[in-house]
Amino acid sequence: MDLKAAFAPIRDEVLREFADILDRMHLMLGPNAEAFEREFTAYCGAPHGVAVSNGTDALYAALVACGVGPGHEVIAPSHTFFATIEAIVHAGAVPVLVDVEPDTLTMDPTEARAAVTDATRAIVPVHLYGHPADMDPILELAREHDLRVVEDAAQAHGAFYKDRRCGNLGDAASFSFYFTKNLGAVGEAGFVTAKDPAVAEKVRLLRHHGHTSKFEHEIVGHNFRIDELQAAFLRIRLRDLDHALDRRRANAARYTELFAGSDVRVLHSRPDSTPVHHLYPVRVSDRDGLIAYLSEWGIGTGIHYPIPAHRQRALLGRPHRCHSMTVTEAAVGEIVSLPMYPELSEDQIHYVAKRVLDFVEPGRDAASAPTQQSA
Ligand SMILES: Cc1ncc(COP(=O)(O)O)c(C=O)c1O
Repeated sequence: MDLKAAFAPIRDEVLREFADILDRMHLMLGPNAEAFEREFTAYCGAPHGVAVSNGTDALYAALVACGVGPGHEVIAPSHTFFATIEAIVHAGAVPVLVDVEPDTLTMDPTEARAAVTDATRAIVPVHLYGHPADMDPILELAREHDLRVVEDAAQAHGAFYKDRRCGNLGDAASFSFYFTKNLGAVGEAGFVTAKDPAVAEKVRLLRHHGHTSKFEHEIVGHNFRIDELQAAFLRIRLRDLDHALDRRRANAARYTELFAGSDVRVLHSRPDSTPVHHLYPVRVSDRDGLIAYLSEWGIGTGIHYPIPAHRQRALLGRPHRCHSMTVTEAAVGEIVSLPMYPELSEDQIHYVAKRVLDFVEPGRDAASAPTQQSA
């Protein structure tokens, strides 16, 4: 990613807003936080929204506000960033880890169904990489068993599942605005959307020490506040989000086109969903070799995520359950994320694709790409 390229066009406006906030010295939960709350809630099409400190706190607060606690099991994919699982554990529940679907590497609804027990209280589908999880069968399963659905939408701001945005599909959803996310702050921030006003109200209480007035504490809460600088920055970036997401989709489509018919396996979004490509992972058999080769050509890569949650040491000795992991185990040894950000140029995409194909299929006459350019 190239964060400087994203900052350049908004630099002057951001500095003006920051100067204004610092002149007024209203630094926490002020007018920008309130306005951003309204604007992002409307953007998601959700009934209610609360801005918080980060995506992990957001998921924790959403789960607790939905009634998840000790004695409950929560079903989540093992293939996710570990924060998903941490939030479940911090809520006092037992994570039940399930496999993902091969095309999108998001939760397999059939596996989720097989994991339901009398103790199950909630399901946490993760819209990983910006690909919406297959929500209809998950919501149907939840209806049948009276379970809450809390979407982890940390990587999926603006994605659509059918005609609805991620974050407006389940009972509640959590977002991360970590600075590398598609909608990134200048540090840390997060968000909870909720269907039920009581859930949003509980998140508000959890966010600010359970305050109902300056000296009264209704519940034992936390400090999940968002500061004004983050909120002001996010308001500016939100205005351009849809345009940035279009660029990501165009870039992903170009990569996919260039890799068509090759041994580079790409993810496929469901025809009824509109992903937002927070990342662009491909699958290759010699992942480590490819990473080293691309590095020689000045191309940065990442692995999201090489060790699934069910094999993390953090869960050793902690209650959790784990189902069959065939797809997850096959994927985690092969996935590698290629450069993906809105400002990526056509030449850069060609350059990356050509180098990937040179390595994966030596001798193949790949895309007619420039020979020397940093991506
Ligand atoms: C899928 C997923 N869930 C949760 C989180 C946690 O968000 P944060 O880093 O803002 O706490 C992240 C972000 O890194 C994420 O990618």
